[in-house]
Amino acid sequence: MLEKIIESIAAEIRQQDDWGETAQYIPELATVDPKQFAISVCLADGRMISAGSATKPFSIQSISKVFALVAALGRVGNQLWSRTGREPSGTSFDSMVLLERENGRPRNPFINAGAIVTTDALLCGRPPKQALAEILGLVRQMSGSNGIFINDAVAASEQRTGSRNKALAYYLQSHGNLVNDPDLTLGTYFHQCAIEMTTEQLAMAGRSLAGLEGAPRVISLKHVRRVNALMMTCGHYNGSGDFAFRVGLPGKSGVGGGILIIAPKVASIAIWSPGLNHYGNSYAGTRAAEMLSKATNWSVF
Ligand code: DON
Repeated sequence: MLEKIIESIAAEIRQQDDWGETAQYIPELATVDPKQFAISVCLADGRMISAGSATKPFSIQSISKVFALVAALGRVGNQLWSRTGREPSGTSFDSMVLLERENGRPRNPFINAGAIVTTDALLCGRPPKQALAEILGLVRQMSGSNGIFINDAVAASEQRTGSRNKALAYYLQSHGNLVNDPDLTLGTYFHQCAIEMTTEQLAMAGRSLAGLEGAPRVISLKHVRRVNALMMTCGHYNGSGDFAFRVGLPGKSGVGGGILIIAPKVASIAIWSPGLNHYGNSYAGTRAAEMLSKATNWSVF
């Protein structure tokens, strides 16, 4: 039944004319073929159902902010909320405008400014390698797979062109909201964004957030609820309302074209298609998520 739904979603996506455009500001991602698609659904009974290129690694980009947040909450707990808010921003993921108005305190941990603060909190004076090993270790543990790596070429590509993130980090520092050297925090952030995963691995990694049986217990129930709430309200930036309206489930997107979607107690879903819509979220991925929630009736509402 679900196999058929997933197959028909993949078939419908394959026929679409418009695939959106890949992220142009990261040269290594700009050249990826946008006409690719994968979907994996991990169910409460342990079954994994996939269609498309579900074993092809892609750049998880901002989806890494979920894992960094989980790690940072584990390390510094509620102290994080003195440095970042938890309100939707209504602005694009790399926007600067609210940061100036709100004294260098980012609206939430999923916009770039908030994610840079989160990574900075996780770094807390350690060498970047240690913080990255912690994030990668957590991702591997959550997905039950050791075959997950950082693509250094993607990280270097963003390091060369990421002027906006550099501006955000230095601006945060000017407000005393960055503890480490901005270049160390940025280096860590660019590398965490360059983690590559397949949709199968990502769906597996989402099991702890979906509260599925057999998922590794790496996050407290309190944090599971809070991370899901943030994914619902802020996970798609200024497209978060649209995603909630169309899909009705917490989700986190990345400019690599991936989306992690949580159906609490029911399923963990990963979708990938590298072409983006005007919010910088996967165009076909969002369409597929909408089709899936409609066909299955999965929704938190
Ligand atoms: O910092 C950036 O701009 C990228 N490394 C990540 C942004 C991103 O994935 C936005 N999501 N849709």
